[in-house]
Amino acid sequence: MTSLGTTFDASRRFANKRLHLGVCGSVACYKALDLLRAWRRLDIHVSATLTDAAQRFVTPMLFESLGAVPVYRGMFAPGEDVFAHLEPGQCAQAMVVAPASADALARLAHGAASDMLSAQALAFGGPLVVAPAMNPRMWAHPAVQANAALLRERGARLVTPDCGEAACGDTGYGRLAEPSEIFLAALRALSPQDMAGRRVLVTLGPTREPWDGFRFWSNPSSGLMGAAIAVCAFLRGAEVTAVCGPCGAELLPRDVTRHSVCRAKEMFEAARDVWPQMDMGVFAAAVADFSPQYIGAEKFKKNGSPDGFSIDFHLNPDILQTLARTRNPGQKVLGFAAETAPDMQALLPLARAKLKSKKTDLMAANRVNDRSGGFCAPTNSMVVVDAHGREELWPLQNKADVAWDLCSWLLQL
Ligand code: PMT
Repeated sequence: MTSLGTTFDASRRFANKRLHLGVCGSVACYKALDLLRAWRRLDIHVSATLTDAAQRFVTPMLFESLGAVPVYRGMFAPGEDVFAHLEPGQCAQAMVVAPASADALARLAHGAASDMLSAQALAFGGPLVVAPAMNPRMWAHPAVQANAALLRERGARLVTPDCGEAACGDTGYGRLAEPSEIFLAALRALSPQDMAGRRVLVTLGPTREPWDGFRFWSNPSSGLMGAAIAVCAFLRGAEVTAVCGPCGAELLPRDVTRHSVCRAKEMFEAARDVWPQMDMGVFAAAVADFSPQYIGAEKFKKNGSPDGFSIDFHLNPDILQTLARTRNPGQKVLGFAAETAPDMQALLPLARAKLKSKKTDLMAANRVNDRSGGFCAPTNSMVVVDAHGREELWPLQNKADVAWDLCSWLLQL
Protein backbone atom coordinates (compact mmCIF):
# COMPACT_ATOMS: atom_id res chain seq x y z
CA MET A 1 0.00 0.00 0.00
CA THR A 2 1.58 3.31 -1.03
CA SER A 3 -1.49 5.52 -0.91
CA LEU A 4 -3.23 6.41 2.34
CA GLY A 5 -6.34 7.83 0.66
CA THR A 6 -5.60 11.47 1.45
CA THR A 7 -5.81 14.36 -1.00
CA PHE A 8 -2.03 14.88 -0.64
CA ASP A 9 -0.91 11.34 -1.54
CA ALA A 10 0.65 12.52 -4.82
CA SER A 11 1.56 16.13 -4.06
CA ARG A 12 4.93 17.43 -5.30
CA ARG A 13 5.14 20.11 -2.59
CA PHE A 14 7.22 18.11 -0.14
CA ALA A 15 9.83 16.62 -2.47
CA ASN A 16 13.35 16.70 -0.96
CA LYS A 17 12.19 17.67 2.53
CA ARG A 18 13.67 15.51 5.29
CA LEU A 19 11.61 13.78 7.94
CA HIS A 20 12.96 11.68 10.83
CA LEU A 21 10.75 8.78 11.92
CA GLY A 22 11.06 7.21 15.37
CA VAL A 23 9.51 3.76 15.81
CA CYS A 24 8.86 2.19 19.23
CA GLY A 25 7.94 -1.35 20.25
CA SER A 26 4.26 -1.96 19.51
CA VAL A 27 2.07 -4.29 17.49
CA ALA A 28 1.34 -1.16 15.43
CA CYS A 29 4.98 -1.02 14.22
CA TYR A 30 3.99 -2.40 10.84
CA LYS A 31 1.90 0.70 10.19
CA ALA A 32 5.08 2.79 10.32
CA LEU A 33 6.04 1.01 7.09
CA ASP A 34 2.89 2.28 5.36
CA LEU A 35 3.76 5.77 6.55
CA LEU A 36 7.32 5.44 5.29
CA ARG A 37 6.11 4.33 1.85
CA ALA A 38 3.54 7.12 1.67
CA TRP A 39 6.13 9.80 2.51
CA ARG A 40 8.68 8.28 0.13
CA ARG A 41 6.03 8.42 -2.59
CA LEU A 42 6.12 12.21 -2.20
CA ASP A 43 9.94 12.07 -2.52
CA ILE A 44 10.39 13.06 1.09
CA HIS A 45 13.77 11.94 2.41
CA VAL A 46 12.95 9.75 5.43
CA SER A 47 15.47 8.61 8.03
CA ALA A 48 14.43 6.37 10.92
CA THR A 49 15.37 5.18 14.38
CA LEU A 50 14.05 1.87 15.67
CA THR A 51 14.18 1.39 19.43
CA ASP A 52 15.39 -1.97 20.78
CA ALA A 53 11.76 -2.93 21.46
CA ALA A 54 10.72 -1.93 17.91
CA GLN A 55 13.45 -4.22 16.52
CA ARG A 56 11.68 -7.16 18.17
CA PHE A 57 8.67 -6.48 15.92
CA VAL A 58 10.27 -5.16 12.71
CA THR A 59 13.80 -5.08 11.32
CA PRO A 60 15.93 -2.09 10.31
CA MET A 61 16.50 -3.87 6.99
CA LEU A 62 12.78 -3.67 6.24
CA PHE A 63 12.88 0.11 6.70
CA GLU A 64 16.05 0.35 4.60
CA SER A 65 14.44 -1.71 1.86
CA LEU A 66 11.55 0.72 1.70
CA GLY A 67 13.86 3.69 1.31
CA ALA A 68 14.66 4.99 4.82
CA VAL A 69 18.20 6.41 4.93
CA PRO A 70 19.87 6.12 7.38
CA VAL A 71 18.19 3.73 9.80
CA TYR A 72 19.57 4.10 13.33
CA ARG A 73 19.61 1.00 15.49
CA GLY A 74 20.95 2.11 18.86
CA MET A 75 23.20 4.51 20.71
CA PHE A 76 26.42 2.55 20.55
CA ALA A 77 25.55 0.21 17.72
CA PRO A 78 28.61 -1.05 15.78
CA GLY A 79 29.58 1.37 13.03
CA GLU A 80 27.33 4.15 14.35
CA ASP A 81 28.81 7.65 14.19
CA VAL A 82 29.58 9.02 17.62
CA PHE A 83 27.41 12.09 16.88
CA ALA A 84 24.53 10.15 15.34
CA HIS A 85 22.21 11.38 18.09
CA LEU A 86 22.64 14.93 16.73
CA GLU A 87 22.25 14.23 13.02
CA PRO A 88 18.42 14.37 12.64
CA GLY A 89 18.38 17.66 14.55
CA GLN A 90 20.89 19.07 12.06
CA CYS A 91 19.28 17.78 8.88
CA ALA A 92 15.56 16.95 9.28
CA GLN A 93 12.79 19.57 9.19
CA ALA A 94 10.35 17.49 11.28
CA MET A 95 10.38 14.46 13.54
CA VAL A 96 7.56 11.93 13.94
CA VAL A 97 7.40 9.20 16.59
CA ALA A 98 4.86 6.59 15.44
CA PRO A 99 3.98 4.38 17.16
CA ALA A 100 5.08 5.98 20.44
CA SER A 101 4.99 3.61 23.43
CA ALA A 102 4.14 4.68 27.01
CA ASP A 103 7.82 4.34 27.82
CA ALA A 104 8.83 6.59 24.90
CA LEU A 105 6.27 9.22 25.98
CA ALA A 106 7.83 9.25 29.44
CA ARG A 107 11.35 9.53 28.05
CA LEU A 108 10.39 12.29 25.60
CA ALA A 109 8.41 14.22 28.22
CA HIS A 110 11.14 14.07 30.85
CA GLY A 111 14.15 14.70 28.65
CA ALA A 112 15.81 11.30 28.99
CA ALA A 113 18.69 10.60 26.64
CA SER A 114 19.26 6.98 27.55
CA ASP A 115 18.64 5.57 24.06
CA MET A 116 19.15 6.77 20.50
CA LEU A 117 15.55 7.88 19.86
CA SER A 118 15.15 9.95 23.03
CA ALA A 119 18.63 11.48 22.62
CA GLN A 120 17.78 12.43 19.01
CA ALA A 121 14.45 13.92 20.15
CA LEU A 122 16.23 15.93 22.83
CA ALA A 123 18.67 17.34 20.27
CA PHE A 124 15.84 18.08 17.81
CA GLY A 125 14.69 21.71 17.69
CA GLY A 126 12.07 21.41 14.93
CA PRO A 127 8.42 20.36 15.06
CA LEU A 128 7.76 17.04 16.81
CA VAL A 129 4.73 14.85 16.06
CA VAL A 130 3.94 12.03 18.48
CA ALA A 131 1.40 9.28 17.75
CA PRO A 132 0.98 7.05 20.82
CA ALA A 133 -0.24 3.45 20.69
CA MET A 134 -0.75 1.21 23.73
CA ASN A 135 -3.24 -0.77 25.76
CA PRO A 136 -6.33 1.40 26.58
CA ARG A 137 -5.75 1.15 30.36
CA MET A 138 -2.16 2.27 29.92
CA TRP A 139 -3.24 5.23 27.77
CA ALA A 140 -5.90 6.23 30.34
CA HIS A 141 -3.40 6.08 33.23
CA PRO A 142 -2.86 9.53 34.82
CA ALA A 143 0.92 9.16 34.52
CA VAL A 144 0.70 8.63 30.74
CA GLN A 145 -1.87 11.42 30.38
CA ALA A 146 0.40 13.77 32.35
CA ASN A 147 3.31 12.92 30.04
CA ALA A 148 1.15 13.53 26.98
CA ALA A 149 -0.01 16.88 28.42
CA LEU A 150 3.57 17.89 29.16
CA LEU A 151 4.63 17.13 25.59
CA ARG A 152 1.71 19.16 24.25
CA GLU A 153 2.55 22.05 26.54
CA ARG A 154 6.07 22.06 25.11
CA GLY A 155 4.73 22.31 21.56
CA ALA A 156 4.67 18.68 20.42
CA ARG A 157 1.70 17.78 18.26
CA LEU A 158 -0.05 14.65 19.55
CA VAL A 159 -2.03 12.51 17.15
CA THR A 160 -3.99 10.80 19.90
CA PRO A 161 -5.04 7.15 19.70
CA ASP A 162 -8.29 5.97 18.21
CA CYS A 163 -10.95 3.99 20.02
CA GLY A 164 -11.37 0.32 19.18
CA GLU A 165 -10.21 -3.16 19.99
CA ALA A 166 -6.51 -3.36 20.90
CA ALA A 167 -4.37 -6.34 19.86
CA CYS A 168 -4.71 -7.76 23.40
CA GLY A 169 -8.52 -7.78 23.05
CA ASP A 170 -9.22 -4.82 25.38
CA THR A 171 -11.41 -2.08 23.96
CA GLY A 172 -11.02 1.67 24.38
CA TYR A 173 -8.70 4.51 23.31
CA GLY A 174 -5.24 3.12 22.61
CA ARG A 175 -5.05 2.01 18.98
CA LEU A 176 -2.62 3.96 16.81
CA ALA A 177 -4.48 6.75 14.98
CA GLU A 178 -5.24 6.17 11.30
CA PRO A 179 -2.00 6.40 9.27
CA SER A 180 -3.64 9.08 7.11
CA GLU A 181 -3.92 11.33 10.21
CA ILE A 182 -0.24 10.81 11.10
CA PHE A 183 0.81 11.26 7.47
CA LEU A 184 -0.97 14.62 7.31
CA ALA A 185 0.27 15.71 10.75
CA ALA A 186 3.81 15.20 9.44
CA LEU A 187 3.07 17.18 6.26
CA ARG A 188 1.67 19.93 8.49
CA ALA A 189 4.92 19.92 10.46
CA LEU A 190 6.79 20.32 7.14
CA SER A 191 4.53 23.12 5.86
CA PRO A 192 4.90 26.87 6.31
CA GLN A 193 2.34 28.04 8.87
CA ASP A 194 1.40 31.04 6.76
CA MET A 195 -2.34 30.53 7.26
CA ALA A 196 -2.09 30.30 11.07
CA GLY A 197 -4.74 32.38 12.75
CA ARG A 198 -7.02 32.37 9.66
CA ARG A 199 -10.44 30.79 9.78
CA VAL A 200 -11.34 29.30 6.44
CA LEU A 201 -14.74 28.08 5.23
CA VAL A 202 -14.72 25.54 2.38
CA THR A 203 -17.81 24.18 0.63
CA LEU A 204 -17.19 20.91 -1.18
CA GLY A 205 -18.79 17.97 -2.92
CA PRO A 206 -22.09 17.76 -4.77
CA THR A 207 -25.56 18.46 -3.42
CA ARG A 208 -28.41 15.98 -3.79
CA GLU A 209 -31.89 17.27 -4.41
CA PRO A 210 -34.47 14.54 -3.73
CA TRP A 211 -37.58 14.23 -5.91
CA ASP A 212 -39.04 11.19 -4.18
CA GLY A 213 -38.07 9.29 -1.04
CA PHE A 214 -35.23 7.41 -2.77
CA ARG A 215 -34.09 9.31 -5.86
CA PHE A 216 -32.34 12.60 -6.35
CA TRP A 217 -30.96 15.12 -8.84
CA SER A 218 -27.20 15.62 -8.52
CA ASN A 219 -23.81 15.75 -10.33
CA PRO A 220 -20.59 13.68 -10.28
CA SER A 221 -18.50 15.84 -7.89
CA SER A 222 -16.27 13.68 -5.68
CA GLY A 223 -15.43 16.51 -3.28
CA LEU A 224 -11.72 16.00 -4.03
CA MET A 225 -10.96 19.55 -5.20
CA GLY A 226 -12.65 21.17 -2.20
CA ALA A 227 -11.18 18.66 0.24
CA ALA A 228 -7.71 19.38 -1.18
CA ILE A 229 -8.22 23.07 -0.37
CA ALA A 230 -9.49 22.27 3.13
CA VAL A 231 -6.51 19.96 3.79
CA CYS A 232 -4.05 22.46 2.33
CA ALA A 233 -5.36 25.28 4.57
CA PHE A 234 -5.16 22.88 7.54
CA LEU A 235 -1.55 21.94 6.67
CA ARG A 236 -0.65 25.63 6.52
CA GLY A 237 -2.04 26.27 9.99
CA ALA A 238 -5.57 27.55 9.32
CA GLU A 239 -8.63 26.65 11.36
CA VAL A 240 -10.84 25.04 8.73
CA THR A 241 -14.61 24.53 8.64
CA ALA A 242 -15.92 22.44 5.78
CA VAL A 243 -19.52 22.25 4.67
CA CYS A 244 -19.65 18.98 2.81
CA GLY A 245 -22.14 17.49 0.44
CA PRO A 246 -22.55 13.70 0.42
CA CYS A 247 -19.05 13.07 -1.03
CA GLY A 248 -15.72 14.42 0.19
CA ALA A 249 -16.06 14.54 3.99
CA GLU A 250 -14.20 11.21 4.22
CA LEU A 251 -11.12 12.97 2.78
CA LEU A 252 -10.83 15.41 5.68
CA PRO A 253 -8.54 14.94 8.71
CA ARG A 254 -10.25 14.93 12.08
CA ASP A 255 -9.03 18.44 12.96
CA VAL A 256 -11.14 19.97 10.21
CA THR A 257 -14.59 20.90 11.55
CA ARG A 258 -17.22 19.52 9.23
CA HIS A 259 -20.92 20.01 8.64
CA SER A 260 -22.41 17.29 6.48
CA VAL A 261 -25.37 18.29 4.38
CA CYS A 262 -27.32 16.89 1.47
CA ARG A 263 -29.38 19.58 -0.28
CA ALA A 264 -28.33 23.00 -1.58
CA LYS A 265 -30.64 24.70 0.90
CA GLU A 266 -28.94 22.85 3.80
CA MET A 267 -25.50 23.75 2.43
CA PHE A 268 -26.58 27.39 2.21
CA GLU A 269 -27.86 27.44 5.81
CA ALA A 270 -24.75 25.74 7.24
CA ALA A 271 -22.36 28.04 5.32
CA ARG A 272 -24.37 31.18 6.16
CA ASP A 273 -24.33 30.35 9.89
CA VAL A 274 -20.54 30.11 10.14
CA TRP A 275 -19.61 32.75 7.53
CA PRO A 276 -19.51 35.81 9.89
CA GLN A 277 -16.67 34.18 11.91
CA MET A 278 -14.53 33.38 8.84
CA ASP A 279 -11.58 35.22 7.28
CA MET A 280 -11.77 33.40 3.95
CA GLY A 281 -14.37 31.44 2.01
CA VAL A 282 -13.61 28.90 -0.69
CA PHE A 283 -16.64 27.73 -2.63
CA ALA A 284 -15.67 24.53 -4.44
CA ALA A 285 -18.97 22.69 -4.04
CA ALA A 286 -20.92 21.72 -7.12
CA VAL A 287 -24.22 23.07 -5.89
CA ALA A 288 -27.34 22.18 -7.85
CA ASP A 289 -28.69 25.42 -9.25
CA PHE A 290 -32.20 23.95 -9.34
CA SER A 291 -34.15 21.47 -7.21
CA PRO A 292 -36.87 19.23 -8.57
CA GLN A 293 -40.26 19.40 -6.98
CA TYR A 294 -40.52 16.77 -4.22
CA ILE A 295 -43.33 14.41 -5.09
CA GLY A 296 -43.47 12.38 -1.90
CA ALA A 297 -41.68 10.00 0.43
CA GLU A 298 -42.95 6.90 -1.39
CA LYS A 299 -41.04 5.41 -4.33
CA PHE A 300 -42.62 6.92 -7.44
CA LYS A 301 -44.12 4.09 -9.54
CA LYS A 302 -43.77 4.02 -13.32
CA ASN A 303 -46.99 2.11 -13.91
CA GLY A 304 -48.97 5.23 -12.88
CA SER A 305 -47.22 7.25 -15.65
CA PRO A 306 -46.79 4.99 -18.71
CA ASP A 307 -45.95 7.98 -20.97
CA GLY A 308 -43.37 9.49 -18.62
CA PHE A 309 -44.00 12.49 -16.42
CA SER A 310 -43.02 16.13 -16.01
CA ILE A 311 -41.58 17.71 -12.94
CA ASP A 312 -41.07 21.34 -11.96
CA PHE A 313 -37.73 22.73 -10.85
CA HIS A 314 -37.22 25.71 -8.59
CA LEU A 315 -34.10 27.87 -8.17
CA ASN A 316 -31.81 27.15 -5.22
CA PRO A 317 -30.10 29.88 -3.20
CA ASP A 318 -26.75 30.91 -4.68
CA ILE A 319 -24.48 30.36 -1.68
CA LEU A 320 -21.37 31.99 -3.09
CA GLN A 321 -23.14 35.03 -4.51
CA THR A 322 -25.14 35.64 -1.34
CA LEU A 323 -22.21 35.28 1.05
CA ALA A 324 -19.83 37.31 -1.16
CA ARG A 325 -22.35 40.15 -1.23
CA THR A 326 -22.95 40.10 2.52
CA ARG A 327 -19.36 39.75 3.65
CA ASN A 328 -17.59 41.64 6.42
CA PRO A 329 -14.69 43.92 5.47
CA GLY A 330 -11.51 41.89 5.00
CA GLN A 331 -13.21 38.56 4.23
CA LYS A 332 -11.66 37.04 1.09
CA VAL A 333 -13.65 34.93 -1.34
CA LEU A 334 -12.50 32.31 -3.85
CA GLY A 335 -15.11 30.91 -6.22
CA PHE A 336 -14.92 28.10 -8.74
CA ALA A 337 -16.40 28.01 -12.22
CA ALA A 338 -17.33 24.67 -13.75
CA GLU A 339 -17.53 25.33 -17.50
CA THR A 340 -17.66 23.44 -20.77
CA ALA A 341 -15.18 25.05 -23.15
CA PRO A 342 -13.22 23.86 -26.21
CA ASP A 343 -9.84 24.83 -24.70
CA MET A 344 -8.21 26.74 -21.86
CA GLN A 345 -8.17 30.05 -23.76
CA ALA A 346 -11.93 29.87 -24.13
CA LEU A 347 -12.22 29.54 -20.34
CA LEU A 348 -10.72 32.97 -19.77
CA PRO A 349 -13.76 35.16 -20.62
CA LEU A 350 -16.01 32.73 -18.74
CA ALA A 351 -13.81 33.01 -15.64
CA ARG A 352 -13.78 36.82 -15.89
CA ALA A 353 -17.57 36.94 -16.24
CA LYS A 354 -18.11 34.69 -13.20
CA LEU A 355 -15.63 36.67 -11.10
CA LYS A 356 -17.72 39.76 -11.83
CA SER A 357 -21.20 38.28 -11.49
CA LYS A 358 -20.40 36.46 -8.21
CA LYS A 359 -18.36 39.40 -6.82
CA THR A 360 -15.42 37.25 -5.71
CA ASP A 361 -11.77 38.22 -5.14
CA LEU A 362 -10.53 35.18 -7.02
CA MET A 363 -12.14 32.82 -9.52
CA ALA A 364 -10.72 29.43 -10.52
CA ALA A 365 -12.30 28.00 -13.67
CA ASN A 366 -12.00 24.40 -14.85
CA ARG A 367 -13.20 22.61 -17.98
CA VAL A 368 -15.60 19.91 -16.84
CA ASN A 369 -15.69 18.48 -20.37
CA ASP A 370 -11.98 17.62 -20.06
CA ARG A 371 -11.72 14.23 -18.38
CA SER A 372 -8.19 14.85 -17.08
CA GLY A 373 -9.59 17.61 -14.84
CA GLY A 374 -12.87 18.84 -13.39
CA PHE A 375 -15.18 16.26 -11.80
CA CYS A 376 -13.65 13.20 -10.11
CA ALA A 377 -10.18 13.43 -11.70
CA PRO A 378 -7.14 13.52 -9.37
CA THR A 379 -5.69 16.37 -11.46
CA ASN A 380 -6.96 19.72 -12.74
CA SER A 381 -5.90 22.46 -15.12
CA MET A 382 -7.23 25.89 -14.29
CA VAL A 383 -7.71 29.42 -15.47
CA VAL A 384 -7.42 31.71 -12.46
CA VAL A 385 -8.36 35.37 -12.45
CA ASP A 386 -8.52 37.91 -9.65
CA ALA A 387 -10.30 41.20 -9.04
CA HIS A 388 -7.05 43.17 -9.66
CA GLY A 389 -6.78 41.90 -13.24
CA ARG A 390 -4.14 39.22 -12.70
CA GLU A 391 -4.87 36.21 -14.93
CA GLU A 392 -3.06 32.86 -15.22
CA LEU A 393 -3.47 29.59 -17.10
CA TRP A 394 -2.24 26.65 -15.05
CA PRO A 395 -1.26 23.38 -16.72
CA LEU A 396 -2.52 20.03 -15.48
CA GLN A 397 -1.34 19.27 -11.96
CA ASN A 398 -2.38 17.27 -8.96
CA LYS A 399 -5.45 18.77 -7.19
CA ALA A 400 -3.42 19.09 -3.96
CA ASP A 401 -0.89 21.26 -5.76
CA VAL A 402 -3.65 23.32 -7.41
CA ALA A 403 -5.08 23.83 -3.91
CA TRP A 404 -1.66 24.92 -2.63
CA ASP A 405 -1.27 27.54 -5.36
CA LEU A 406 -4.82 28.83 -4.84
CA CYS A 407 -4.23 29.23 -1.08
CA SER A 408 -0.98 31.12 -1.83
CA TRP A 409 -2.84 33.45 -4.20
CA LEU A 410 -5.63 34.04 -1.64
CA LEU A 411 -3.03 35.01 0.96
CA GLN A 412 -1.56 37.62 -1.37
CA LEU A 413 -4.88 39.42 -1.96
O1 PMT B 1 -15.35 17.55 -6.55
P1 PMT B 1 -14.44 17.14 -7.68
O2 PMT B 1 -14.82 15.80 -8.27
O3 PMT B 1 -12.99 17.22 -7.31
O4 PMT B 1 -14.66 18.17 -8.86
C1 PMT B 1 -14.22 19.49 -8.72
C2 PMT B 1 -15.23 20.51 -9.26
C3 PMT B 1 -15.35 20.35 -10.76
C4 PMT B 1 -16.61 20.29 -8.61
C5 PMT B 1 -14.68 21.91 -8.84
O5 PMT B 1 -13.40 22.10 -9.41
C6 PMT B 1 -15.62 23.02 -9.31
O6 PMT B 1 -15.58 23.48 -10.44
N1 PMT B 1 -16.52 23.47 -8.40
C7 PMT B 1 -17.58 24.43 -8.70
C8 PMT B 1 -18.75 23.72 -9.33
C9 PMT B 1 -19.88 24.66 -9.68
O7 PMT B 1 -20.95 24.51 -9.14
O8 PMT B 1 -19.55 25.60 -10.53
P2 PMT B 1 -20.61 26.74 -11.09
O9 PMT B 1 -19.88 27.39 -12.20
O10 PMT B 1 -21.92 26.11 -11.39
O11 PMT B 1 -20.79 27.73 -9.88
C10 PMT B 1 -19.95 28.88 -9.69
C11 PMT B 1 -19.64 29.05 -8.22
O12 PMT B 1 -20.85 29.32 -7.51
C12 PMT B 1 -19.01 27.86 -7.53
O13 PMT B 1 -18.04 28.36 -6.62
C13 PMT B 1 -20.16 27.20 -6.80
O14 PMT B 1 -19.71 26.53 -5.60
C14 PMT B 1 -21.02 28.41 -6.44
N2 PMT B 1 -22.47 28.12 -6.35
C15 PMT B 1 -23.16 27.75 -7.45
C16 PMT B 1 -24.53 27.57 -7.36
C17 PMT B 1 -25.16 27.75 -6.11
N3 PMT B 1 -26.46 27.57 -5.99
N4 PMT B 1 -24.44 28.12 -5.05
C18 PMT B 1 -23.10 28.30 -5.14
O15 PMT B 1 -22.43 28.61 -4.14
